[in-house]
Amino acid sequence: MPPRRGIIGILNRNPLRPELMAEIPVAAATAADETRARALAAELRLPYEPVATLSGLGLIVRDGALELFDSRARGSHPMRVDFVSGKLRHRRLHGGGELLRKVLGRPDEAGYVLDAGAGLGADSFVMATLGYLVVALERSPIIHALLADGLARAGREPELEVVVARIKLVRADALEFLGAISDQQRPRVIHLDPMYPSRRKSALGRLDLRLVRAVVGDDPDANELLAVARQQAKKRVVVKRPLRAAPLGAVPASQIVGKSVRYDLYPA
Ligand SMILES: C[S@@+](CC[C@H](N)C(=O)[O-])C[C@H]1O[C@@H](n2cnc3c(N)ncnc32)[C@H](O)[C@@H]1O
Repeated sequence: MPPRRGIIGILNRNPLRPELMAEIPVAAATAADETRARALAAELRLPYEPVATLSGLGLIVRDGALELFDSRARGSHPMRVDFVSGKLRHRRLHGGGELLRKVLGRPDEAGYVLDAGAGLGADSFVMATLGYLVVALERSPIIHALLADGLARAGREPELEVVVARIKLVRADALEFLGAISDQQRPRVIHLDPMYPSRRKSALGRLDLRLVRAVVGDDPDANELLAVARQQAKKRVVVKRPLRAAPLGAVPASQIVGKSVRYDLYPA
C-alpha cells in the first residue's frame, strides 16, 4: 500500500529549506501569466522579474505552463515537463521501459515503487505507464514545481488521466521520508537515479539534465541515500547509472545493462 495521505501531507508541508533553493527569478511571458508567476514567486520565496530583463537561469510562466530557461547556456531554449507530446508520448505509444520492467518486478505485485529523486519525472512517468504505483519524491522546490506543473497538465488529458493518477508527487527529501515511514509504509522497490558525474564541457549532455544540474548541483549524499534505501526497501533497491560509471557505494549483487544506461541491483 502507498503511504497514507497523512504522511505525504506532513512532508509536503515541510518548510522550504534555504540550502535547496537556487536564487532564480520567476517571470511571466504574457500579461495573462502574471498572476500565476507572482503567486509562484511568493510561494517559493523567489524574486519576481519582468521577462524582458531575465538573464541567466529563470522560471517563466508561459500560456499557463511553467518553464525553466538559461539564456546563457549554449543551444538553450525554454524547457517544460511535457508528458503529452514528444519523446515520452512516443515511449508510451510504442513501448519502452523494458529495463524498468526487468528491475522493478511485476506491476501487479503488492506494494509501490519509490522514485527517490524524481527530477523531471521521465522515469516515474514510464513506470506509471507500465502500471506501477509510484511515489515520486523531489527535494528541490524548483524541480518539484516544474514536475507538478507537467503532471497537472498531463492529468487534464483524458488518455493520460489514469497514468498520472498512479503517481503521487511529494516534495520531500528521501532521507527524511524514509526515516519517517512506518514498517507497513515501506516501498516494495526503491529507484535511485542520482545526478551523473558531471561531464566535460566538450560533451555537454541533454539540455534538460543540464538545466536540472544548474538548479540542484550534484547529489553528494547519494551514497548515504543508497545505504538508507537498502534498509527500507522491502524487495530491492535499483540504481540507474551511466554504462561506464562506477557503482554508487557498495558493490551491487547484479546488473542489468541496456544500450545507454545500466541498473545496479541491491536486494533487500
Ligand atoms: C538525475 S535527476 C533524476 C532524473 C529522473 N530520473 C528523470 O527521469 O527525470 C536526480 C534528482 O534527484 C533529486 N534528489 C537527489 N537526492 C534526493 C533526495 N535525497 N531526496 C529527494 N530528491 C533527491 C535531485 O534534486 C534531482 O532532481
